[in-house]
Amino acid sequence: MNVSLRQYQDLLASYLWPQRGRVALLAVFILGNTGLLLVTPQILRSFIDTAQTGQGFTTLVTLALLFGGVALGQQVVSVLATYFTERVAWTATNALRADLARHCLGLDMSFHHEHTPGEMIERVDGDVNNLGNFLSTFTVQIVGSCLLLVGILVLLYREEWRAGLGFTLFVLLSVTVLVRLRNISVPYWRARSEVRANMFGFLEERLTGTEDIRAANAQPYVLRRFYELTREWMSKEMRAGLAIGVFWNTNETIWAVGSAASLALGAYLFLDEAITLGTVYMLFHYATMVVQPISRLTQELEQLQHASASILRLGELLHTRSTILDGAGVAYPAGALSVEFDNVTFGYHREQTVLQDISFRLAPGRTLGLLGRTGSGKTSLTRLVCRLYDPQDGTIRLGGQDIRHSTLPDLRDRIGMVTQNVQLFHGTVRDNLTLFDPDISDERLREVTAELGLGSWYAALPDGLDTLLAQDSGLSAGEAQLLAFARVFLRPAGLVILDEASSRLDRGTERLIERALDRLAADRTVIVIAHRLTTVQRVDEIMILEDGFIQEHGDRQRLASDPRTRFHGLLRTGLEEVLA
Ligand SMILES: Nc1ncnc2c1ncn2[C@@H]1O[C@H](COP(=O)(O)OP(=O)(O)OP(=O)(O)O)[C@@H](O)[C@H]1O
Ligand SMILES: [Mg+2]
Repeated sequence: MNVSLRQYQDLLASYLWPQRGRVALLAVFILGNTGLLLVTPQILRSFIDTAQTGQGFTTLVTLALLFGGVALGQQVVSVLATYFTERVAWTATNALRADLARHCLGLDMSFHHEHTPGEMIERVDGDVNNLGNFLSTFTVQIVGSCLLLVGILVLLYREEWRAGLGFTLFVLLSVTVLVRLRNISVPYWRARSEVRANMFGFLEERLTGTEDIRAANAQPYVLRRFYELTREWMSKEMRAGLAIGVFWNTNETIWAVGSAASLALGAYLFLDEAITLGTVYMLFHYATMVVQPISRLTQELEQLQHASASILRLGELLHTRSTILDGAGVAYPAGALSVEFDNVTFGYHREQTVLQDISFRLAPGRTLGLLGRTGSGKTSLTRLVCRLYDPQDGTIRLGGQDIRHSTLPDLRDRIGMVTQNVQLFHGTVRDNLTLFDPDISDERLREVTAELGLGSWYAALPDGLDTLLAQDSGLSAGEAQLLAFARVFLRPAGLVILDEASSRLDRGTERLIERALDRLAADRTVIVIAHRLTTVQRVDEIMILEDGFIQEHGDRQRLASDPRTRFHGLLRTGLEEVLA
């Protein structure tokens, strides 16, 4: 779990350097704060010593005013330091969050299948938060505390070497004790967070599964596990609480011992006539000041460990590279685009083949109906066309150009994909149509919906384009697909891919989909994974996939009229078998 100095450096350079002005200002405030903290006991010392002489009233008043001024100034500087720390830390971590989010969105689909959304959230939020804490507390707490400690020791050595030596020994001793104690208590804390995480995971799972739990009459078992977990939680929580209690008590004890020792040392030196009474008080004051930075430092050590782990994980994530990269860029012809597969072989993993040696050509403007049993590779084939995955072997051409030569945005701009389960986003109908692009005018949206034959559907929306949609807004799979059709229409797509919803649609929606598909097919190439006989009957060509192979491909009418073909057989015996 070691983080190289280089990783810290890279991170600090990337995210702190751009705001170096602010960081410099922050350094000034931290230095100022420390300086003012150090100067306060000196003023008090002069005050006591002057007061002892019984004269110099004006000096006393000046010193009192100075003390007030310094105390006030220190508060102001400390607030400014806090403000700038938060500002610096948040600016840096927000930039990092944005970079990570962009990076994750660009990573291959295979990466996202291997890593759960929860894990991504933990990286982009949890780890970055750790890092933010590190950036903010590190600067103020660690740097500030170290400065303060060193400052106090330097001042004391200057004053009286025996005092300096005594304090140095005290600091070393307390650091050792506190670090030891901290290390003892850490496992208890870790056990506590583990049991908490288990508890919340358990609750989440059971709450989402509440329907099944009730139906299966499993409440007693769930409750039993719940009791077990709470009992475990209690014991872990109590031990952790005890550990932290011991830690704080030791802190207090050290404080008391330190103060007493400083008074004893002061008394001894005073009797030795080495120092004045004011200096005795100053020693005592410094002793009370020294404990805080020590305990802070030991606390921050743990933060540092968290941050190191986070930096490692973030570094790993940022170094994960996409294998699907932009090509040099090609110019696609306007209008419908041809699709060509040339000996394409593909599998999601090395050992498994989902598509085997697929070759076919679909001329511009033609519509292809893709049939095949579930798991035969239909969806996978369409994913390859827009490079959600790259095939292991073979070439795919769109509009006559190898798709690997195109840039990804160009390629995906020219392909309109309507998936089986269209994802609706929490937002208005407008947002869902434009995918949050504010440049698309309402006028254009109305045109598109009318053109797709969705005028009446659109008119029935309660708030028009402002109607709010949610992930489960009651829109049927078919209606969601209609929305996705409109998305396709808004882009210069030359190829449309439709993975028909396999669920049953009501007759009205089905007719709207057919009409919309006809409009789209008018000047585009279309591949449709058909689940309905009516759709099958509208396409020009039929291709049947079986276990990753092309079993049959040809002109629909020709296949239908030839009794030896599989398609002919399917039409006769019913398509249910393959259109499930
Ligand atoms: N993301 C994935 N990772 C690994 N394997 C996958 C992935 N998606 C699909 N598969 C596997 O690839 C094979 C082909 O799946 P695909 O989704 O292409 O079939 P399909 O013909 O579209 O089926 P359906 O009619 O059920 O939609 C199946 O064996 C499936 O389990
Ligand atoms: Mg599928």
